[in-house]
Order: sequence, then C-alpha cells, then structure tokens
Amino acid sequence: MAAKIKENEAGKQIPRHIAIILDGNGRWAKKRALPRKAGHLAGSETFRSIATYCKEIGVEYLTVYAFSTENWKRPEDEVKGIMKLLDKYLHEAIRDMQKKQIRLKVFGDVSRLSPSLRELIARTDEISQGIEGFQANVCINYGGRAEIVRAAQRYAQDYAQGKAEELTEESFSDYMYSAGIPDPDLLIRPGGEYRLSNFLLWQCAYSEFYYTDVLWPDFTPEDLDKAIEEYNHRDRRFGGVKK
Ligand code: IPE
Ligand code: IPE
Ligand code: MG
Repeated sequence: MAAKIKENEAGKQIPRHIAIILDGNGRWAKKRALPRKAGHLAGSETFRSIATYCKEIGVEYLTVYAFSTENWKRPEDEVKGIMKLLDKYLHEAIRDMQKKQIRLKVFGDVSRLSPSLRELIARTDEISQGIEGFQANVCINYGGRAEIVRAAQRYAQDYAQGKAEELTEESFSDYMYSAGIPDPDLLIRPGGEYRLSNFLLWQCAYSEFYYTDVLWPDFTPEDLDKAIEEYNHRDRRFGGVKK
C-alpha cells in the first residue's frame, strides 16, 4: 500500500510509517567497557524517547526490529537479558499506553516466548483496541522470511476452507503481521551496517533507506530529524518517472 504523506508546519513531509532496525547496542556497551546487556538497556530507553518523538511530530506508525529469529544464536545470558527488558517494557506499556495514547503491537512468532510474556502481549493487544492514533509495532522473534512463509500457510488454510479471496499482492498483505498498515515510507538502520538482516522483506519493496553510523543507544530526536530531512530530498518514483 502506498502511503499518503502529510506535511508539518515547516512544509516538511512527515513519513506516515517509519521502520527502524535497532542496531549497535552491543558496540555502544563495548565502547564503555560495559556488558552487552547494558547496551540493550540503554537501547530500550532510546526506543521510549524516539517513540514519543514520532508520535509528537505526527508519524502514525513506528515499527522497530528488537529481536530477530536469528538472535536466538546469541549467548543464553544475553537473550535472557533482552527478554527481561521486554517484560519490563510491556509492564510499563500496560500501565501507560492509555494515558500516552499509544497502541502497541508485537510482530513475530510469540509461541517461542515465555507464557508470562505472551500474557503481557495479549493484554497490550486488548488495551490497544480501545486506543486510536499512533501505533508502535515491536518485532520480537521476527523474521521477514518466516513472516512470508506464515502468510502463505495461512492463505493456504483459508483457501482449503473456501474462505480465501483471489491471491493478489493486496490480499496477501492482509496475511502479514502488518495487515491494514501502510508500508514503511522510511527505513532507518543505525549502527553502521548496510543490510536488511531479514527485516520487513515484503513491506520494504519501495521504502526509502537511511543508514547512519550512530549507534542506536546514542540515537536522538535530532538524528531522526536528519533522516526525515534526507527523506524529503528523495524522489519516490515507484517505478514511474520524475515528477
Ligand atoms: C541490536 O544491537 C539489538 C539486538 C539485535 C537484540 P546488537 O546487540 O546487535 O548490537 P551490535 O550490533 O552488537 O553492536
Ligand atoms: C538485526 O541486528 C536484528 C535486530 C536489530 C533485532 P543484528 O545485529 O542481529 O543483525 P546482523 O547480525 O548484524 O545482521
Ligand atoms: Mg547488531
């Protein structure tokens, strides 16, 4: 789905949907001779402030990559630390999302998460139903390929039961975690790597990419402004010709 773009008072186009690969937590910690877990803690704080900023400037959807299907390869202690931070974040979200008017969705295969995390996620889903406006999507145990395979399986099931409409790009999109959400206009990867790492493979077909060496825990609203500024100089042709 192509997104309709709105402008702020300064005439800048504000992307409706921004996606961010939260990368560089480990290197941030290493630079300070801290354990990697400390980097993830700092990164989770950055997420809170950037989500608040996105809502403030009129972004409608923020999708962040927090834990990939490949990240289970990491040392057990690090994975545990990340799950603990997620637990803390979800508890806070349940307490605050109504007041802050933030909808929260988790994208990914939650079946591998602990029962208590799954319960918290179900609770945030429930609360989200009563909230309108800004939506944060947190990708946990998420992989772009896994998402496409899951969508194909779900379509096949519906088809077998005579419930599926004709398979088109649009109808297939409804089988993704991101059903009903416009594709990301802008995809940001901090941390200095130039790859997708299995993030939103289906949805990023026409997203504008922005890379920066800033490590995620150091990423500020000013860095987001820079990315949006750069986005404003892109010519989005979607395969057509220059306007
Ligand atoms: C991103 O930071 C967070 C996760 C992948 C969970 P990293 O932990 O990948 O940080 P670097 O890339 O090692 O610096
Ligand atoms: C991508 O970061 C995944 C997340 C940020 C959740 P990684 O650090 O896992 O990616 P690679 O290993 O550099 O590709
Ligand atoms: Mg990394």
